[in-house]
Amino acid sequence: MKRYALADEAYRSLRDQDKDQCILITGESGAGKTEASKLVMSYVAAVCGKGQEVNKVKEQLLQSNPVLEAFGNAKTVRNDNSSRFGKYMDIEFDFKGDPLGGVISNYLLEKSRVVKQPRGERNFHIFYQLLSGASDDMLKKLKLERDFSKYNYLSLDSATVSGLDDAANFRTVRNAMQIVGFMEDEMQSVLELVAAVLKLGNLDFKPESRCNGMDESRVKDKNDLKEMCELLGIEQSVLERAFSYRTVEAKMEKVSTTLNVAQAYYARDALAKNLYSRLFSWLVTRINESIRAQAKTRHKVMGVLDIYGFEIFEETDNSFEQFIINYCNEKLQQIFIELTLREEQEEYVREGIEWTNIEYFNNAVICDLIENNQNGILAMLDEECLRPGTVTDETFLDKLNTICAEHQHFESRLNKNSKFLNDHSLPHNCFRIQHYAGKVLYRVEGFVDKNNDLLYRDLSQAMYKANHSLIKQLFPEGNPAKVNLKRPPTAGFQFRASVGTLMGNLQTKNPNYIRCIKPNDKKAAHIFTDSLVRHQVRYLGLMENVRVRRAGYAFRQAYEPCLERYKMLCKNTWPHWKGPARQGVEVLMTDLQVPAEEFAYGRSKIFIRNPRTLFFLEEKRKQCLEDLATLIQKIYRGWKCRSHFLLLKKSEIVVAAWYRRYAQQKKYQKIKHSTTVVQSYTRGWQARKLLRELKYQKKCEEAVTTIAAFWHGTQARMELRRLKQEVRNKHAVTVIWAYWQGTKARRELRKLKEEARNKHAVSVIWAGWQGTKARRELRRLKEEARRKHAVAVIWAYWQGLKVRREYRKFFRANAGRKIYNFTIQRIMQKYFLGLKSNLPSMSPIDKSWPARPYSFLEGVHAELRRIFHLWRCKKYRSQFTEEKKAVYEEKLEASELFKDKKALYPSSVSQTFKGDYLEMVKNPKYQKLSSAIDEKILLADVVNKINRANGKSSPRLFLLTKKSVILADQKTGQVKTSLPLPDLSSVSTSTQSDGFFALKLKEVRRKWFEVYLFF
Ligand SMILES: Nc1ncnc2c1ncn2[C@@H]1O[C@H](COP(=O)(O)OP(=O)(O)OP(=O)(O)O)[C@@H](O)[C@H]1O
Ligand SMILES: [Mg+2]
Repeated sequence: MKRYALADEAYRSLRDQDKDQCILITGESGAGKTEASKLVMSYVAAVCGKGQEVNKVKEQLLQSNPVLEAFGNAKTVRNDNSSRFGKYMDIEFDFKGDPLGGVISNYLLEKSRVVKQPRGERNFHIFYQLLSGASDDMLKKLKLERDFSKYNYLSLDSATVSGLDDAANFRTVRNAMQIVGFMEDEMQSVLELVAAVLKLGNLDFKPESRCNGMDESRVKDKNDLKEMCELLGIEQSVLERAFSYRTVEAKMEKVSTTLNVAQAYYARDALAKNLYSRLFSWLVTRINESIRAQAKTRHKVMGVLDIYGFEIFEETDNSFEQFIINYCNEKLQQIFIELTLREEQEEYVREGIEWTNIEYFNNAVICDLIENNQNGILAMLDEECLRPGTVTDETFLDKLNTICAEHQHFESRLNKNSKFLNDHSLPHNCFRIQHYAGKVLYRVEGFVDKNNDLLYRDLSQAMYKANHSLIKQLFPEGNPAKVNLKRPPTAGFQFRASVGTLMGNLQTKNPNYIRCIKPNDKKAAHIFTDSLVRHQVRYLGLMENVRVRRAGYAFRQAYEPCLERYKMLCKNTWPHWKGPARQGVEVLMTDLQVPAEEFAYGRSKIFIRNPRTLFFLEEKRKQCLEDLATLIQKIYRGWKCRSHFLLLKKSEIVVAAWYRRYAQQKKYQKIKHSTTVVQSYTRGWQARKLLRELKYQKKCEEAVTTIAAFWHGTQARMELRRLKQEVRNKHAVTVIWAYWQGTKARRELRKLKEEARNKHAVSVIWAGWQGTKARRELRRLKEEARRKHAVAVIWAYWQGLKVRREYRKFFRANAGRKIYNFTIQRIMQKYFLGLKSNLPSMSPIDKSWPARPYSFLEGVHAELRRIFHLWRCKKYRSQFTEEKKAVYEEKLEASELFKDKKALYPSSVSQTFKGDYLEMVKNPKYQKLSSAIDEKILLADVVNKINRANGKSSPRLFLLTKKSVILADQKTGQVKTSLPLPDLSSVSTSTQSDGFFALKLKEVRRKWFEVYLFF
């Protein structure tokens, strides 16, 4: 109820007084902060306006909670749904108080939980929700198995939590994501990343020795790596290399060093932590994209801060994360003290109100111990992380021991302060801080690493190369084009800066506090542990707060706004007060008869002791506002009615004017129409009269024309008859004339034809006579030409004779023969030389021969060709060895026997005759047979002997010697038949290409008269 009341007050002041609000929810882990924040949000959602758009915004704001809780909450020993991140949500409202949207800021997720969880605690909910709630199909797609024990990153001792249904929650989360506006593929990408983190945890490494004696890590079982790479679209070899090597980039050079197994595990965990925390930040950004207010108008803001609660683990389990969480709570306590205790008391003094100071513990000194820029713990941690040389958690603790030795809230065993030297509850590797909520022992191990939050660049570059839209966005520093050699800010530095911003933001708003008290440590209802509650009430400073509240005033306001707000309650101040504001307020209070002890006048503000008085004022104001509203309504209605009346009056005049005009127009049009009708009747009558007259006139004119036409017609017909008669007469004359002319013409024609026939006969006779004459002339001319030619020949001979007779004395008697011989000799010489250079090749089968140049050489030419051929054959033969000669002789003999007689012959020419085809002597199989035959074997081959009786064939060895033919069994080599050659009468061979031959025996061997064999 209290929470609703507070939420209501904050909402009303935001809506009515236009003041930005913030609700700070603080308390230990498990005290109920997150629940309270959800109640506040649902209350605000319930009271503000409705409408489709408003409801959508409200639903999205509310549904952002399950999504963030699934990814950012986990079961701890203190709380089954402990927030492991800080959340500050600004809800934005319009002037009516309807929500427009929101912006969420998240603070340092406890990412170390991803890889390791303290005893009895779980990893983030989403891992368990995914494995329990996803369908088999989805798990297969994500390459996951339902069994928690298959994943190293999931602690098993409290995997299932009673009262927590992971499967149902998974459905709620998916539904919430859909409402918030996540696309289906975005949800899938998010789950792929979650699955990849689980797979990453299953990677194991083994050492592999290198030639330089160093150990290099190698992924042991590559199946998980392969599946993870497939999920994220990363090339397996790239990621595998990033787990074995580390590249250090200086300004100009790159050095690659190998990672040992421990470093590889460190790199694996760093990647898993970064992957998850970046995914979480991305989720917050994505939710903000959906819920951010669209309108750019000025809006009011209500901030709700739900941050991880103060945490003290057993003994030495507190680490860097708890340190950061507790620092944050320390800061919130600080702001509470500042605003409720210190500032409040100082204000009374400042305003001159009588006040007895109330003592309280101010934790500013602890905040200073942690965050001081020079010698605060966080600053020293950063200094240690950034300094060159060997840096370890121990060197950091040494530094703390030196610098914070004198601080009253810092305790350490090795402190210069001798107080703790013998304190055995304080181990050597720990330090203790006295927080406002109690002493916390921090183990220093991991502080440096966690603060550095180092992710090897090779890994971020491997992630950037992934073919996965989301993962690429998460590792922008992996982009080789944007290599930044600067060290990223440390985790502590980032957190300090964001807490600073948050505090600044909170101070600009009107604060409202919800202080959650944890009733017991058992996570159980209806149990109230007094000591625990007392402790919380004490350290939260609630007693002091109550005391200040009791002694002080519940409400205060500057005079001007107070007068502005309540001036309508007094006639003197309404509607305007001319004097100073304070006087106005005094007049107002007097007029309202508020008892003097209920308020006090400060220098610039009025202080009201009890809320009762304020409620009284507010109630009065509300009534007054109602009266004023009625007055305004009355005046407005009066004004509206009058305006309406005036408008009606004005409209009536306009309507009347228009109507009169219309009636006059109608009347005028009627008269005009009647006039037109009368006029048209008169005009019609006149026109008809005129028409009748005109018609009569026209008829008379037509009668005259008809009579004239008849008269002219009669005349014309008479003339026509006369003319026709005349034409008929003329025609008869023409016909007779034509007949006469025809007769005359025919007679003339006959005469002309007779004449032409006579003329033709004359010309034929004439032509015959001319032909005879011409042939005679031709014969004469030919005779003459022959004679002329004979004369010319005789003349030439005569001239030759004359020349020879004349020149004979100059030549000897045999000169002519010599010239002839010389010429012939030259020709022959040329012929032989030409033949020499054009001789064909030496191949005896070359048939080419040069062409004959002169016909008189025909005989010589053919003879030379024959001689040349014989000569080159002889040359060819002279190259033969004795064996070759024998082969050719055999070939020649075979040619004489078989050429043109057997179809098989041409194909057998190229094969050489071997005789002993079976190689009887060499082949051990036939040794016995060859030794049985003491003569030289001329031919040995396998033949098929055909049985004359049934035509069947059987293989036999066929052997020929000079004396006999032997047939032997092919398998055994036993002699079956031996025929002396004299017993053979003949051998017949087939003319076909079948290798068939028959041996004919003489009468002596009757039984064997014919043996048919074939090869
Ligand atoms: N008003 C309430 N009524 C009933 N149970 C409550 C209430 N507030 C808290 N709880 C119970 O306490 C548990 C812890 O509450 P919550 O998660 O809000 O704690 P927290 O203060 O946010 O802790 P942390 O700092 O670890 O996040 C809840 O899960 C719920 O079971
Ligand atoms: Mg919480």
